[in-house]
Amino acid sequence: MRLAKYIADSGISSRRRAEEMILAGQVEVNGQPAVQVHVKVNPELDQVRVNGRLIQSVHKVYLLLNKPGGYLCSVGDPHGRPTVTDLVKDAGLRLYPVGRLDMDTEGLLLMSNDGDFMNLMTHPRYHIPKTYQAWVCGHVGNKAMNSLRRGIQLEDGMTAPARTKILESGNDRELVEVVLYEGRKRQIKRMFKAIGHPVLALQRTAFGFLTLKNLAVGQYRHLSATEVEKLKSMARGISQPL
Ligand code: URA
Repeated sequence: MRLAKYIADSGISSRRRAEEMILAGQVEVNGQPAVQVHVKVNPELDQVRVNGRLIQSVHKVYLLLNKPGGYLCSVGDPHGRPTVTDLVKDAGLRLYPVGRLDMDTEGLLLMSNDGDFMNLMTHPRYHIPKTYQAWVCGHVGNKAMNSLRRGIQLEDGMTAPARTKILESGNDRELVEVVLYEGRKRQIKRMFKAIGHPVLALQRTAFGFLTLKNLAVGQYRHLSATEVEKLKSMARGISQPL
């Protein structure tokens, strides 16, 4: 097996990052620095160390968590705030959030220890649709809805076309569904702020074909092998037409 794949399988990085670490001289095989990315290892016999730490290929795990508000999307927090890893501790492995939801955002979050999978799901080149429901201030008129659909100028550039629809209308607020084909930091909140309708509450309700069906807030389930394969081929496929 290729060394970079073995490192990625251990869950510590993506395959690309593993290649960078090999070239930077951070990886040793049986006590010797590995200097070429195409080095092969035998997982049964060889000892691989990254920055001096022995690594092992681990069982790959893919979870779908219904994230509650108030949890950080990270593996640990220097300020001691709750993180999403606290919610999946009983899975028994070190798992990482696949992409990020803001601390106050609820909903569908994938977690895994498969570096390649995480890269595939989050890389901007791959387009898996993500569906959000946002309660926003005021009433979003047709003009604003059309700007969301066409694209909005944010400080980091134009947003890609999105699908939107109003789900519910209250006195002073509206529930809007938005399907994004990209994932920039705080994108939904920034988009609504730009059109004058700040977000009051945000939930991710779907990731590709995956939904929160039968999953209470704070609970998780394992993805099936078929679901994982389907997500991978979806990411590798041509971008979804709107
Ligand atoms: N967009 C946001 O603004 N926040 C999230 O958590 C996800 C998407």
